[in-house]
Amino acid sequence: MPQANHIRPEDLKTDSSVELVIDPLTTGDLNDLCDATDAAIEDGGGFGWVDTPSRDVMERYWQGVVTIPSRLLFVTRLDGTICGTAQLVLPPRNNEAQSFAGQLTSLFITPWARGHGLGTKLLKFIEETARTEELEVLNLDVRETQYMAIKLYENNGYVHMGTHPYYASVNGETVPGRYYYKMLKSRLTGETKA
Ligand SMILES: CC(C)(COP(=O)(O)OP(=O)(O)OC[C@H]1O[C@@H](n2cnc3c(N)ncnc32)[C@H](O)[C@@H]1OP(=O)(O)O)[C@@H](O)C(=O)NCCC(=O)NCCS
Repeated sequence: MPQANHIRPEDLKTDSSVELVIDPLTTGDLNDLCDATDAAIEDGGGFGWVDTPSRDVMERYWQGVVTIPSRLLFVTRLDGTICGTAQLVLPPRNNEAQSFAGQLTSLFITPWARGHGLGTKLLKFIEETARTEELEVLNLDVRETQYMAIKLYENNGYVHMGTHPYYASVNGETVPGRYYYKMLKSRLTGETKA
């Protein structure tokens, strides 16, 4: 019997990109972002969500994020389709004492797009944007059960500074959370770290 010529996923040519969302999301992009989030939640890594919310709740959430001036929304695309996202929360203007620190949150790549380097690309792009916003430190926290995310952060120089034993509750189980920081610019030497 003739063998079908199957192409392995790793041999497919892909076009990947990361961008900062400036304009309101188009209908197509909003739909892709909701699909990506649904799949990430079902896989167990949809940031705060444990159960998938209804589509209108999720659409309102993402439309709302774009309108918050202190939140920068990033998306990743694979062959044009939104497949991942993250947010950079800028320090509030009244917090002069911590005006150098930003919070990285809600980062995920949807399951079908993982393993193409997009998580790493997204993280580096956010760090570059943070530097242009004159931030010197990035803080983040993550459930201890998110092994791939922990690997991504630790491989990229994030320092584990503590674990909160009562960080989250997922399906009735208490899950600890890890807190990380990364110095983007050393205050002592003035050097910018990669
Ligand atoms: C963590 C996450 C963003 C990584 O996304 P990704 O696009 O697959 O990341 P990359 O392709 O850049 O790979 C990052 C690292 O994971 C490794 N990796 C990726 N997929 C892998 C797999 N299936 N098995 C083993 N290692 C894998 C890569 O080799 C790479 O390691 P390296 O830095 O040593 O080369 C993604 O797995 C995810 O969204 N996880 C769930 C959501 C989550 O936990 N978010 C955090 C909330 S704050």
